[in-house]
Amino acid sequence: MNILLLGSGGREHALAWKIRQSSLCEALYIAPGNAGTLKEGTNVGLNMLDFALVGDFCRDKNIQMVVVGPEEPLVKGIADYLRSRKDLPGIMVIGPDKAGARLEGSKDFAKHFMMKYKIPTAAYKTFTPEEYEAGVQFLRSLKPPYVIKADGLAAGKGVSVLHDLKEAEQELEQMLSGKFGEASNRVVVEEFLKGIELSVFVVTDGTTYRLLPEAKDYKRAGEGDTGQNTGGMGAVSPVPFADKVFMKKVEERIIIPTILGLKEEGIRYQGFIFFGLMNVDGNPYVIEYNVRLGDPESEVILPRLENDIVQLFEAMATGKLREETIRISSDVVATVMLVSGGYPGVYRKGFEISGLDEVRGSMVFHAGTAMLNGKVVTSGGRVLAVSSSGRTMEEALEMSYANARSISFEGMYYRRDIGFDLK
Ligand code: AMP
Ligand code: GLY
Repeated sequence: MNILLLGSGGREHALAWKIRQSSLCEALYIAPGNAGTLKEGTNVGLNMLDFALVGDFCRDKNIQMVVVGPEEPLVKGIADYLRSRKDLPGIMVIGPDKAGARLEGSKDFAKHFMMKYKIPTAAYKTFTPEEYEAGVQFLRSLKPPYVIKADGLAAGKGVSVLHDLKEAEQELEQMLSGKFGEASNRVVVEEFLKGIELSVFVVTDGTTYRLLPEAKDYKRAGEGDTGQNTGGMGAVSPVPFADKVFMKKVEERIIIPTILGLKEEGIRYQGFIFFGLMNVDGNPYVIEYNVRLGDPESEVILPRLENDIVQLFEAMATGKLREETIRISSDVVATVMLVSGGYPGVYRKGFEISGLDEVRGSMVFHAGTAMLNGKVVTSGGRVLAVSSSGRTMEEALEMSYANARSISFEGMYYRRDIGFDLK
């Protein structure tokens, strides 16, 4: 079949690489893609938020399946749109409808949903601009640190964790005064959960779910988990503390009630659910839901997945997931993100990347890269994810670091301590 994949990051390169391995895939188009996805298929300069153009492209290229990488098109309703087009009969869209995408698109909705279906999460309250005073009272009733979240999508910047009450009150005020535009018309204030985070992923057809490998993501820019929050500086899979006992709790307390809740709400959900979890003394709590795969988690979980991913997608889109069994490699996969100097703050782009041909024994997934006059250049903050498999995490990381040293571009930076807390 002909497949269109939407997105341009490391996650999408990993997805393209995995889709390309399927015997079911004839043509693969990636919109807009990057210099890495060029090797897996055809990049097309489509704006994925222009749904009518995406639909026309699907019609013209006889696309049977659309795989949506990032959340924004889903939150804006691309799945509903494509499925409703009369000239795209039977099109399979991997990703939930707008209603399901609210799990990520509205933190208030997600918290409400978790309360209703008794899914463990931090205690919270939601406030509107008129309720600022009540928000301050609520903050004062909590112990520091204070967690304040814009309700809507805010390009990964909508969450603040603050230690000082005065700063927390100021942040609440700024958010309610439109710091993130409409996204912070409502603000969730919640209890801080102390523990260790992990990312758990499932695929679902709305009734049945299947667990994908779990991963741990390193979000802070600096070593030892210091500095600013980023999209993710590295990841490893599996996660040693996510043992059978812990994962059983995750399934019983979180995954099953989520799938049942979505059904109960009449929400059609055919796609990924990414559970951002906190392990608090051996008990899992939901920090957030995402309606897509993680990045850089994809760069470690997809290499461990042994299934034909297109077959899995087809089963998800046609309600036949119960017929599928997931096969996961026992190898450890680790990835190290090579980023532009200054990221996640201000950084420059357009630097030539050298050394890619010298890489041996790792998979290099491109994130912010572009092709310019036949050369691969940097075009974003997160540039390359260097993923490796090994029998142990140490072995995998050693390979990624060895290859990272052979790659260079001006200002290149990476964390040298990925996996440090799991050793
Ligand atoms: P997000 O931008 O939604 O991924 O959230 C950023 C980070 O904030 C999460 O990865 C957590 O590290 C942290 N965080 C969010 N909510 C809480 C919470 N209730 N307790 C502790 N940390 C949190
Ligand atoms: N790495 C976290 C995310 O994709 O949201």
